[in-house]
Amino acid sequence: MVNSLFYSRLYEWYEIHHRVLPWRETEDPYCIWLSEIILQQTRVAQGMEYYMRFVARWPKVEDLANADEAEVLREWQGLGYYTRARNLHKAAQMIGESGFPQTFEEIRALPGVGDYTAGAIASFAYNLPYPAMDGNVYRVVARLMDIDEAFDTTQGKKLFHKKIEELLDRDHARLFNSAIMELGALHCTPLLGDNCQTCPIQEFCAGYAHHTAELLPVRKPRPKVRDRWFTYHIYIKGERLKVKGERTPVYTLIRRREDKDIWYHLYEFPCTEGQTDDAYPFTHVLSHQKIHARYIIHKVQKMPEIPGTIVIRWEDLNDYALSRLTLRVLDTLKPIRQG
Ligand code: ADE
Repeated sequence: MVNSLFYSRLYEWYEIHHRVLPWRETEDPYCIWLSEIILQQTRVAQGMEYYMRFVARWPKVEDLANADEAEVLREWQGLGYYTRARNLHKAAQMIGESGFPQTFEEIRALPGVGDYTAGAIASFAYNLPYPAMDGNVYRVVARLMDIDEAFDTTQGKKLFHKKIEELLDRDHARLFNSAIMELGALHCTPLLGDNCQTCPIQEFCAGYAHHTAELLPVRKPRPKVRDRWFTYHIYIKGERLKVKGERTPVYTLIRRREDKDIWYHLYEFPCTEGQTDDAYPFTHVLSHQKIHARYIIHKVQKMPEIPGTIVIRWEDLNDYALSRLTLRVLDTLKPIRQG
């Protein structure tokens, strides 16, 4: 088991090696919450840009609460998992004027906040003694204690939480959570190479002693991924000449997704679903679905009347929160080049 030497080794390593990140320079719970929601499914390098833009545009939680959902989704564009953005906005409105919640239970009750995020906010903002188990921490704990039970099952989570409660440095939860998370992110990585040789807590690590570290952690078997085939219909009307013979459409047709399905409330070109013999040049991988997509350009004199669609100016496409796949499709056609 660990002792005070374990913590001093871990903290010394952290002091030297940690990344300087803007949400670590603040104790403002709003900023910390915002960073944690952004980082839930996003890498630090990408999350950083979004974090800076959100804080600049909405410096206080009231500012975010007063924004339109459409503006928030627009600013979120490209991060994916849009439920996070909708929950962020909803939570900001719930917090409203009453100020950011200060207990774990109240933080945990916010939409979009699970055990990990609540622990992260409670410890980073208020130094409250709660663990923050993200994927990196699960990995470190599995190796350190040589746990070969899957960490992503109900039973596994319970076991890991019991273990991290034992390990948590309750008087220094902010430092402890930051350090163990950072060790997982930078040093105790999925592929270890020879990192164990320079690990600050090697002498405490059961996985190292038993030569099991690189085999851990264990996950439950993944659900099967569902394949779907989408055909986007890009209706364009009119053409305007731009520089160097490039032409750009004047009008197009888009619709907002309303079904209980992926990309709820995001905009895209009208889409039909089903596999044909044609090639699908785009592959877009989501957590449980693999989307194969193609598009057909329809140059029309008159826009078709498709329920739920709206006609917009091509140049205004950027004002709508578009699905990431739609952005990828647009990237290949903007501007539409001819002759
Ligand atoms: N990933 C999730 N939360 C993080 C944080 N606070 N710092 C670095 N990476 C993170």
